[in-house]
Amino acid sequence: MKIRKAVIPAAGWGTRFLPATKALPKEMLPLVDKPMIQYVIEEAVSCDLEQIIVITSLGKGAIEDHFDRDFELEYFLEQKGEKRLLKEVRRIAELANICYIRQREQLGLGHAVLAARGLVGDEPFAVFLPDDVFDAEVLLLKQMLDVYQRYNGSVIAVRRVAREESRRYGIIGARQVEERVYQVLDVVEKPEPDEAPSDLAILGRYILTPEIFAALETTAPDRRGEIQLSGGLKQLLQKQPVYGYEFEGKYYDAGTPLGLLKATVSLALDHPEMGAEFKEFLRRLAADL
Ligand code: G1P
Repeated sequence: MKIRKAVIPAAGWGTRFLPATKALPKEMLPLVDKPMIQYVIEEAVSCDLEQIIVITSLGKGAIEDHFDRDFELEYFLEQKGEKRLLKEVRRIAELANICYIRQREQLGLGHAVLAARGLVGDEPFAVFLPDDVFDAEVLLLKQMLDVYQRYNGSVIAVRRVAREESRRYGIIGARQVEERVYQVLDVVEKPEPDEAPSDLAILGRYILTPEIFAALETTAPDRRGEIQLSGGLKQLLQKQPVYGYEFEGKYYDAGTPLGLLKATVSLALDHPEMGAEFKEFLRRLAADL
């Protein structure tokens, strides 16, 4: 079945970025010259997804404004003859068919995904976490869609991490079925290194069958009272196979200030207009270190 819908959880507090995120949604922090969330929406559109469902919360209005028409701004740019900017501003507003759902309480990633149930309905869908930034020749979700078509089951992106890093990710226990594809046998959210079932960590791209919703409904909250998507996946794989797709390539966890900085530097180096000058700047800076 074709994947038509994308769910983008964007309701979190962004506490790791305070005070920057006191009045600004974390997802609106820029990566070079675009807000983080615009990258994932563009990624979803490039994968031919037709409907984008963004899960928001109080104080996230800037996201809706960003993807909306702004006639005053367009008029102003038109008057000034800023054709390129005008085109870009209009393009963003016409980028995708986006709808928003307010998650009234932030009760975890699984709870946020469950909030999209009514709009997703009974069909498979993709989940994009805006914090996870990938730099790959073929978009990661495109690679995963291929695995989904061949195996006809949920597919989650995974990557090998150092054992000490297991505390930051959902970790899967798995059996390899082909190069870079695993059948998931277990999922543990943020385990201590000695309790991690492997070194394969879940990254923020998922293709999920609609049965995940029933699984999330019966998932008990964790110690912090949150319903984790990992918990739902663990239930789901008892009913149907779930696959992990190993991503090899550049990945940045832009969910922390240092990760965002690394992602920004890396993307800026590839930027068609700024890249060359920025590289020269970094060279000179490094020479002084
Ligand atoms: C979430 C998931 C975790 C996954 C991670 C990927 O954690 O709960 O399983 O490994 O995203 O970035 P978070 O980063 O929201 O704490």
